[in-house]
This record gives sequence, structure tokens and C-alpha cells, in this order.
Amino acid sequence: MSAPVLQLSNVESAYGPVRALRGVSLSVPSGQIVALLGPNGAGKSTVLKTISGIIDPRKGTIFFKGDNITAHDPSHIVRRGLVQVPEGREVFPLLSVRDNLIMGAYTRQDKDGIAQDIEMAYQYFPVLRERAMQSAGLLSGGQQQMLAIARALLAKPELILLDEPSLGLSPKLTQEIFGIVLRINRERGTSILLVEQNANMALHVADYGYVLESGRIVMEDSCARLRQNDDIREFYLGLKEATVRDEQRWKKKKTWR
Ligand SMILES: Nc1ncnc2c1ncn2[C@@H]1O[C@H](COP(=O)(O)OP(=O)(O)O)[C@@H](O)[C@H]1O
Ligand SMILES: [Mg+2]
Repeated sequence: MSAPVLQLSNVESAYGPVRALRGVSLSVPSGQIVALLGPNGAGKSTVLKTISGIIDPRKGTIFFKGDNITAHDPSHIVRRGLVQVPEGREVFPLLSVRDNLIMGAYTRQDKDGIAQDIEMAYQYFPVLRERAMQSAGLLSGGQQQMLAIARALLAKPELILLDEPSLGLSPKLTQEIFGIVLRINRERGTSILLVEQNANMALHVADYGYVLESGRIVMEDSCARLRQNDDIREFYLGLKEATVRDEQRWKKKKTWR
């Protein structure tokens, strides 16, 4: 197992009186894709925002590439090579696709390198080259998600935090985007922490997974094993066989009483 690129220990975050994270510990091994699953409101986005410095944790530590980055300035964290793709994309709607990509390189000075990386982003997402001069606001939801990921690449990330990339997208587009995310991971060695409600997709692309509920990690395992886990199959994959089996168990319990 490679050394972790990211390590959270007992991280607690809150919004005023609302405790959103109650001691979260997790790690992302270098070069791997790690999934963070959990129901709406579990605290998944809060985990990502705390890592990227948008929210300061009340307790706990966050190490990135061996350095303590807890509560550091977001732009410092981006400069170190850790970039978040926020939930809901948040592209700049009035800027062109190309200018959105250039914004992704705001921490960089190397003009030639930036031009090369725009070219690299277009190779991963050819539709963005076709739309380069159009306003990002005119793109479809799927294309905006592609632009948000492509923009993250412009910061030369070693770790990308991806918040619900499949939100509102068709299964076909979701599959296409996950295919490209996998390629970025395999070809560039970029580590990825992937937040998803589409557990089926996440458990097929990620290596390892954590389940977050009410601000706590309640389960973790390799994705191969999580896919076989009865609770995961029932609550996150909605697979009927698990439900039927549980019903049978439940009936047995009833007859015991
Ligand atoms: N800006 C905010 N102000 C107050 N409470 C918030 C805010 N953002 C999120 N929360 C609360 O924190 C908890 C975790 O939210 P979030 O991290 O967005 O969950 P998830 O991404 O898993 O759906 C929820 O109870 C949510 O209502
Ligand atoms: Mg969220």
C-alpha cells in the first residue's frame, strides 16, 4: 500500500451550533480513488470543504503530502496541489469555456505550461474544445460538469476532491464522465476523493470506500467488499435480493417473539 496523500484524523466541523462532522478519520492512498458515500445531509460536502480550507475544523488534523494543512488558506492548499470540484459545478457562466479553464490556473505563472494543460484538458473533454469560445452558462449540465473537472486540472492537482459529479446527469453522461475521471487517475496518477450518492457508480470506479452517516464514518472497506455488503446493497444500491433476504430475517425475528 502506498503512503497516503491525504490523512484526516478526528476532524470535527460545525456551522455555528450545528455539529456537522463528529470526528472523521480517513485517508486517501497516493494514486488511488477513494469514495465517500452517505445519505443527504451526512456531512460529505462538509468533509470536502474542511479539507480544502473553506471551513476551519474545530478539532482534528488534516495532512496533505505529509504536511499539516489544517485550516490553511484555500489558495495555499490549491497551490500545494489539492483542488476541489464543488457540488453543482459552479462554473463562471458569463466567461467563455476557455476563460473558465484559465481561471483554474489562477495560482500559476507559467504561461507555456498553462497553454499545454488547456490542450491536455481539451484532449480529455473534446466537446470543450468545440465550445471553447462560448459562454459557459450556455453549456448543458453534463458539459458544465466536464468544464468544472477540466478547470480543476488546470491547477496541476495531485489530489482532486469531486463532490457529486453525477448530480442531475443522465446515466449515459454519468458513465462517460466517470470513464474520463478513471483515465485521469490512471494516466496522470492523480488521486481522487469522490463524494457520490450514485453508490453503484462510485463503488465500481473507486478502490476503497467510506460510509458517512450523521457526521461519523460508520463503515469502511475495499469497494469490492463494500459491493458485497448486505447493508450497502440494501440502503445504497437498492438491490432487491438483499431486501428480500432481510424481510425473511425480519419475519423469522417476528415469529421468535
Ligand atoms: N451553510 C450551512 N449552514 C448551516 N448548516 C449547514 C450548512 N451547510 C450544511 N449544513 C448542515 O450540515 C450537515 C451536513 O451537510 P452537508 O455536508 O452539506 O451534507 P451532504 O453533503 O452529505 O449532503 C447537514 O445537517 C446540513 O444541514
Ligand atoms: Mg453535499
